[in-house]
Amino acid sequence: FASPRVRALVDEMTVAEKLGQLQIVFRPRADDAAKLVREGIGSVFWPRSAAATNALQRVAVEETRLGVPLLVGLDVIHGQRTIAPVPLAQAASFDPVTVERLARLAATEARSGGANWTFSPMLDVSRDPRWGRAVEGFGEDVHLTAEMGRAMVRGYQGASLAAPDAIAATAKHFVAYGQPEGGRDYDAADVSEHRLRNVHLEPFRAAVDAGTASVMASFNTVAGRPMHANRRLLTGVLKEEWGFDGVVVGDADGVRNLIPHGVAADLADAVRLAYSAGLDIEMGGTPGELDPSVLAPERLAPARIDDAVTRVLALKEALGLFDDPYVPEADERIEPTDDSRRMVREAAARACVLLKNDGTLPLREPRRVLLTGPYAESTDHLGAWTQSFAAPARSIADELRERRPEVDVRVVPGVGFLDDDVSGIADAVAAARDADVVVLLAGEPSSLSGEAASRSDLRLPGRQADLIRAIAATATPFAVVLENGRPLVVADWIDDAPTVLEAWHGGTEASAAIVDVLLGDADPAGRLPMSFPRSAGQVPVYYAHERTGRPAATGGTLTETSADVGLHGPDNVHEKYTSKYLDLELGPQFAFGHGSGYASFAHGRPRLDREEVALGEVEGGARLTITIDATNTSDRRGDEVLLVFVEDVVASIAPPVRRLVAFERRTLDAGETATFSFEIGERELGFWATDAAGARFAVEPGLFRLHVGPTLERTQAVELRVSGRPASITTLEG
Ligand code: IFM
Repeated sequence: FASPRVRALVDEMTVAEKLGQLQIVFRPRADDAAKLVREGIGSVFWPRSAAATNALQRVAVEETRLGVPLLVGLDVIHGQRTIAPVPLAQAASFDPVTVERLARLAATEARSGGANWTFSPMLDVSRDPRWGRAVEGFGEDVHLTAEMGRAMVRGYQGASLAAPDAIAATAKHFVAYGQPEGGRDYDAADVSEHRLRNVHLEPFRAAVDAGTASVMASFNTVAGRPMHANRRLLTGVLKEEWGFDGVVVGDADGVRNLIPHGVAADLADAVRLAYSAGLDIEMGGTPGELDPSVLAPERLAPARIDDAVTRVLALKEALGLFDDPYVPEADERIEPTDDSRRMVREAAARACVLLKNDGTLPLREPRRVLLTGPYAESTDHLGAWTQSFAAPARSIADELRERRPEVDVRVVPGVGFLDDDVSGIADAVAAARDADVVVLLAGEPSSLSGEAASRSDLRLPGRQADLIRAIAATATPFAVVLENGRPLVVADWIDDAPTVLEAWHGGTEASAAIVDVLLGDADPAGRLPMSFPRSAGQVPVYYAHERTGRPAATGGTLTETSADVGLHGPDNVHEKYTSKYLDLELGPQFAFGHGSGYASFAHGRPRLDREEVALGEVEGGARLTITIDATNTSDRRGDEVLLVFVEDVVASIAPPVRRLVAFERRTLDAGETATFSFEIGERELGFWATDAAGARFAVEPGLFRLHVGPTLERTQAVELRVSGRPASITTLEG
């Protein structure tokens, strides 16, 4: 895949020059950075302005022997200057088009300042909300994560990486980083081949398919082998099986961390292990500590080193850096524009999930509103992974006062985020008694989610639950608005709160978006991308769990169409020998896909264009179409999200209870009917069958049920029979 220019450069490089290309250094002081670049370091973290970046590029191009320009990396996770909702919130929008646009906006801002490589999207499927990094990904579902990942890669990279509004994407963290033991960041992932293939690898495969320029190795071990030294996965699966020809970048100090992992004796040993495993560029702190002898032929195959250098140079070439490494400094986008603010504001509203509503929302022209809770006056709306150069957010109190000057908006926070001081609750209660309506703004501050921010207690921190219960004891109608970076345990107050809106950390325009939703100017029609557990002891709890031989079910409360399909069997919850906790109700508090909106919808029966299809046809690319009508039965315009789940009734492995395979969000006018249409084929019906001989993607003949509806509990099923003999599976049966 190397061009003649890249090949010629690799041929001409000394070992020391190659070593320089294989490292990206953290943000050193400006003079140190220039020195490192002069000494041959080939990639740097963004030095925080177009001028500083151009200055470093000039050193690389004019003051080094071969004049190779720099990759300039930056964690643009959900925006650079204009901050979009956190990725978990973007997933809640169930709207890949918005996600792609947000990534494009982030790319435009970042590239205008000279950054050309982002370490995003995070595609780790997260089923453990204790893990703080759940906020950076797209939740518990494989298909949703894969679709959002594809959209982000498209958004960052566009049609050409050399365009002035494109940056190279990084699919991270490869792989299984989202399943650390105990939810503790950086901990081991002891994951079966079956789960690795069917859950954790899939979103990365999708990103490679979408053309991601790089992939980042993760900090965790998989089955005991640290990913930075995992040849089977970095080289075997990613590069050889999938044909990934981009750059594998290490995570910060991930190579050095092989020493405390207990697999490398010293740094030189760690470097040898990592590059032989398939790493192409190391991130972190070794420049100067390493001399070219670490790349000596008896330690590392020269062809492997050349392959890594070639990949790095090919990325620089694709970014157009050899032709023009500089950016026009006058065009650097330092401030959000009206357009960028509008875009993230709409996205933040689309990410909102209405968990429950007794009709308090949208607010109906109140004269006296009390804002209480720690988020009432806080400006901490940006969420994890934003940096000091991001545009700040405003408070909800300021926003509401400005938008509705005629309304008497009182603010009494009542409690703080984290402390135990309950002395302010009495004032909040007194103010609530004088108000027409209370909006209680609660949640986790941004610092409680993100990297190295795992929690063992998933309840609202501090004394916020006391405030909710105290407000509930007044007769004043109230709505709780949550801002947080993970699913929370809400069991200690949820029954006291008839109206709850999940708004996540919404970014620069979060407050405007929340006020839009409160006033009914926007429809909070998102859906949960991750289940909310009843208690931390119930974690992990996720919908697509493997079927057990002894399922527990409550049956009763479900609709006729979903009660017969296996997600919930006949009521057996009082039987002892079934899979459950003795001290918890079954299932999560709010399941994946939960949510409604201000409008209401009625649905027709789903229709499948065929009831039966031959296996050979499916394998040959046949697609079936499932359609369903949705009618907006309310008197307002609103959004409907429809989800399609597959249930493989009998398979050679225990299949998941259900698996999301398609979804769509659409806006319908009052009274409008729309036909939603989804295609189903091999990808949707099949799974990875694994055994000691390897893995093979296969559809097994037999009965499938396709469940379609706005939430997991409100689906209707149609049946599909795939006829034929499972020839491809027999060799892989365990
Ligand atoms: O990109 C990140 C990664 O996700 C976690 N460790 C630090 C890297 C660089 O900032």
